[in-house]
Amino acid sequence: MDFFKEIERRRTFGIISHPDAGKTTLTEKLLLFGGAIQEAGAVKNNKIKKGATSDFMEIERQRGISVATSVLAFIYKDKKINILDTPGHKDFAEDTFRTLTAVDSVIVVIDVAKGVEPQTEKLVEVCRMRSIPMLVFINKLDREGKDAFDLLDEVEQKLGLRVTPMSFPIGMGYDFKGIYNIWEKKLNLFSGDNKTSISEGVEFSDLSNPELDTIIGETAADTLREEIELIDEVYPAFNQEEYLEGKLQPVFFGSALNNFGVKELLEAFIEIAPSPQPKKAEERLVDSKEEKLTGFVFKIHANMDPKHRDRLAFIKIVSGTFKRNAPYLHVRTGKKVKFSSPNAFFAERKEIVEESFPGDIVGIHDTGNFKIGDTLTEGEALNFKGIPSFSPEHFRYVNNADPMKSKQLYKGLDQLMDEGVAQLFTLDMNGRRVVGTVGALQYEVIQYRLEHEYGAKCTYENLAAHKACWVEPENPKSDEFIDFKRVKQRYLAKDKQGQLVFLADSEFTIQMTQNKYPSVKLHFTSEFKK
Ligand code: G4P
Repeated sequence: MDFFKEIERRRTFGIISHPDAGKTTLTEKLLLFGGAIQEAGAVKNNKIKKGATSDFMEIERQRGISVATSVLAFIYKDKKINILDTPGHKDFAEDTFRTLTAVDSVIVVIDVAKGVEPQTEKLVEVCRMRSIPMLVFINKLDREGKDAFDLLDEVEQKLGLRVTPMSFPIGMGYDFKGIYNIWEKKLNLFSGDNKTSISEGVEFSDLSNPELDTIIGETAADTLREEIELIDEVYPAFNQEEYLEGKLQPVFFGSALNNFGVKELLEAFIEIAPSPQPKKAEERLVDSKEEKLTGFVFKIHANMDPKHRDRLAFIKIVSGTFKRNAPYLHVRTGKKVKFSSPNAFFAERKEIVEESFPGDIVGIHDTGNFKIGDTLTEGEALNFKGIPSFSPEHFRYVNNADPMKSKQLYKGLDQLMDEGVAQLFTLDMNGRRVVGTVGALQYEVIQYRLEHEYGAKCTYENLAAHKACWVEPENPKSDEFIDFKRVKQRYLAKDKQGQLVFLADSEFTIQMTQNKYPSVKLHFTSEFKK
């Protein structure tokens, strides 16, 4: 097998959206095209339903099931496509941020009627910060929605993207006739009254061709001509390099439910989306074509079945060939490790794999040795960057409710934090532990899991913190920093890596603190060191 060819044919990406925009439906349609599933509905059943916010057990159960759909792989036109699932539920946004460290590109799904929604904004911002190449899919064109040009404006303004339309809708909602594929210069129309089937694309390199009037009607044809002319004038032409550098985002229109525009998206995707990219380690840039294996853990999934307490650590291969039973260095612990049953993922199953290539995700069984962000190599001391913690939005003290089980409690907390369920801070002043989460739901999850998996009990106590700010003094020995530490003593804590964190109680406090101590920088993410 040709190693370079294997790398070149891989496309590892994630689909991001605000819940309900159509991520699951689109994923499913892509899998159908890839022949990876036979019928619609297969992925859907694993979805965390929006109504389930109060029912955390249901969510955890579904998270358990979703191990199988964490990575959905299929082959399309000889390209190996790995879709990394990103939870849509906002309480699991941290999971999504972490998964984004393992993708080489993303597809952003936007609902044509709702436009850009808050969750999309947050996720796109993370992708923008990391210059991840993005394609935009505007979905649900079979419904009445916003005007296409208004939407493009919204995408540019709210998401800070620079767009280039690759297709354009003809009509919308009831009048939705199809799309003009600017990329391939083809007209794709619905056929049949029920808008369920799609005609083969008709080549239309010259829109002034009067045949267009015959096919879609004079009015629609004129409108389309004007719109395409406007697009040519206003928007930059597609440029592969700019797209790959995260400076230009191609936009597609369609309807995932009706299978419309999905094939065009997939065809363009395999053509333009990047194969596995070089990745920055703290020490150096690692190229995917390097022969020696490197990879990192971006997700840990606990097995919810109490009889099988093991966890599955998901490793993204960055370079080299991962081989079953080969000895690797677990850099953080300095230990040699071997994996006798690494898993590869397919659409609805996982199976033991002999070797995997850059871009692939390998699942390994773990009994508590791995942490998110851990690096594996063939001996080199490398540490991949970019698994940041963001400031949690909720903070509570955690108290031990069963003094006989304090060891279990701390072990449990430790392991749950390694999985990335929440963040733990230890107050400098008195050593009390504070759990910070993105959603309130995680507190129930932690309590339940501590009890059922570790036999420990905890209670919570509210803490009036607003944000965790990672502290970076210009000069750790300066009087200003010493004064800052003295005055803010009660609000200072260490995160799990031992970094200094200021738990600010309001936006006002953050402002005041920055004004008073300008040489002490406050960051809302742990990833501020370049
Ligand atoms: P998500 O994963 O982003 O949360 O969204 P999901 O695919 O579950 O889609 C959310 C809802 O939008 C679903 O309806 C889905 O059928 C619908 N949908 C997705 N794509 C399209 C589209 O192109 N056109 C139209 N009209 N609807 C679309 P639901 O009623 O919530 O679920 P279900 O009862 O259909 O399963």
